[in-house]
Amino acid sequence: MRVALASDHGGYLLKEELKRTLTEWGYSVVDVGCDSLESVDYVDYAEKAVEAVRTGDCERAILVCGTGIGMSIAANKFPGIRAALCHDVFSAQATREHNDSNVLCLGARVIGVGLAQAIVKMWLDTEFTGGRHQRRIDKITAIEKRFVQP
Ligand code: RB5
Repeated sequence: MRVALASDHGGYLLKEELKRTLTEWGYSVVDVGCDSLESVDYVDYAEKAVEAVRTGDCERAILVCGTGIGMSIAANKFPGIRAALCHDVFSAQATREHNDSNVLCLGARVIGVGLAQAIVKMWLDTEFTGGRHQRRIDKITAIEKRFVQP
């Protein structure tokens, strides 16, 4: 599976840790930046990573900023993106099973590397349940379509 990774300066160090971890686990990682601790705008990197998902270049994306909140707000503006901010393993499992989330957001100032790795593992390993959950996603997609300009 190809996974896009993005961060701002607040998430840079955790992104670098996760890049090493994902590579070790055998994932193909597309790192869209940022590349240092220098201050940048999280929205620019959220856009690069979600575009990799929207074009089909990557199946999933993981976005890291200080809280994960800015990244999740930005990512969820893009049609077809279901970004989930998770700081516990239960939510990571539930959002895959129920929401078929294709983007995971993490806050590097909220959790440590060990918990982030456990969340990422659960999120990548868990399949969407479908069924009644698909109906709910279809309703979200229908709302999106009302706001997309022709
Ligand atoms: C950057 O200081 C910080 O605002 C950002 O990383 C993130 O937490 C925003 O939601």
